[in-house]
Amino acid sequence: MFKDKIVPKIKIVKDGPYLVLGNIPMTKQTIIANEEGRSVKWEQGEAYPKQEEYALCRCGHSKDSPYCDGTEHKIDFEGTETANKEKYIKRAGATVGPELIITDLPELCAYARFCHREDGSVWELAEDSGNPKSRASAIQGAWDCPAGRLLAWDRTGQPIEEKLEPSIGIIEDPSYNGGVSGPIWLKGGVVIESSDGSEYEVRNQVTLCRCGESENKPFCDNTHGSIRFKAKP
Ligand code: FES
Repeated sequence: MFKDKIVPKIKIVKDGPYLVLGNIPMTKQTIIANEEGRSVKWEQGEAYPKQEEYALCRCGHSKDSPYCDGTEHKIDFEGTETANKEKYIKRAGATVGPELIITDLPELCAYARFCHREDGSVWELAEDSGNPKSRASAIQGAWDCPAGRLLAWDRTGQPIEEKLEPSIGIIEDPSYNGGVSGPIWLKGGVVIESSDGSEYEVRNQVTLCRCGESENKPFCDNTHGSIRFKAKP
C-alpha cells in the first residue's frame, strides 16, 4: 500500500519548536553584502539531510541549531504567538507608481536590506517605474525580501512574483552588526499552523523567528540583529 503524501506544513508547538512536516528541503542561505554593507545577493549554501519530518529550534538556545534539542524546557521558553492573523493585503500600505505598485507591511521586516538598492530604495524606484530600469530594479528588490514584507504588483492588481516550491532557508547574515544568524525563510506557500490550531495566511515567502525574541512571533521582527543572535551549530 502507498502511504498518503503529507502536505508540507509547519506546526508550531506551544512554547516549543516548529514541527516541519512533508519532506520540506532545507538549505543554508547567506546574505552577501558589498563593501558599503548593502545586501546584493543571496548565496545558497549546504543542503541539510532530507527528512520527512523534523523539528526546528524556536527558542534560540539549541546547541544543535537549526534543529531543536529540547533546550526550551530547560530555559522555560515563552513562545506566545502575537502576530496579527488578518490578511497581508488588508493591512499593507502601498506606493503607487506609474507602472508598478509596491505594498509594504513594515511589521514583517526581517532586515535583510535588499530594499535599498544601488539605484535607490524600492519605494523611490516604484515612483519612477515609468522608467523600465527602475521598474525592474524595484521588482527585484521586493522579490529579494524574504519576509514577505514587500510585494510588487502591476497596475491591473496582479502580483508580480514567481510561484515557489516549498522549501526552507536558514539565514545567516555575516555583514550585519558583526555577523548575526537570521530567521527561518519559509517559501512556497507552506501552511503554518498556530499552536492554537488556527492557520496563518498562506504566503509565498515569510520569515519565522529562530532567536526566540521577536515581539511578532512566529514571524521575525529583526530583534535577532539588535541582540546579535548567533545560532549554535
Ligand atoms: S530571528 Fe529575527 S527576530 Fe528572531
